[in-house]
Amino acid sequence: MRIVVHADGETLARRAAEHIAGLIKQSAGPRVALGLAGGSTPKATYEELRWLPVNWDIVDLWLSDERWVAPDHDDSNGAMAAATLADHVEARFFRTRWSRHVRPRDAAAFYEADLRRIIPDGRSDIILLGMGSDGHTASLFPGTEALDEKERWFVANEVPHLDTWRLTATATMIQRAGAVVVLTAGDTKAEMVATAFEGEDGTIPIQLLRQAEGHVVWLVDEAAASMLSETPVERAL
Ligand code: 6PG
Repeated sequence: MRIVVHADGETLARRAAEHIAGLIKQSAGPRVALGLAGGSTPKATYEELRWLPVNWDIVDLWLSDERWVAPDHDDSNGAMAAATLADHVEARFFRTRWSRHVRPRDAAAFYEADLRRIIPDGRSDIILLGMGSDGHTASLFPGTEALDEKERWFVANEVPHLDTWRLTATATMIQRAGAVVVLTAGDTKAEMVATAFEGEDGTIPIQLLRQAEGHVVWLVDEAAASMLSETPVERAL
């Protein structure tokens, strides 16, 4: 895993967008699968990414996780990704289904079937992730059932402390990706960034990236990197 430190959140968003555009250009396939994360740090990146010269016609956007809310709800990751990126580019955008008449587990199964069509081998070219201040990533929260899923690519995950359901890519799906880009900023993440790189294995969910098969790069700001002590970091110029 690499970590690249940026002076501030604005530089991080701009350089992360450039990095993602570069990954899309480098992808060899006829189409490029790009998993989008929710959260404020990814959102700032999408707002930069939509202006870059990318061949969006070959890109399939999907969601590495989604909240169990209506598609136009303020908390919807899909609604945020549409407003900041997908509605402004020619990429195909595959969103999860939601209805009062559908159970989260069924919605996750429908979405996994979609993913099996657009990513037949389960190896997304790129997956973007954020990290919560508890070390969660996607919607794989500490102590939740989905952390133990080894076969499925995408599942429903009950999150008791939030009193909600989430839909999320599993560790298996994330670890198979060709490239993983973690976007994290702010001093509230510093302790978990240090734990992700330097802590005892199995402490927090995002340490699943230690078993990733592809390239993993963390793009962070100074504040998020401020508690690293023994990890070599690269500094964005
Ligand atoms: C979600 C996200 C989640 C997010 C992190 C970081 O649905 O909430 O997918 O994993 O990426 O919580 O979010 P912030 O960048 O807003 O701190």
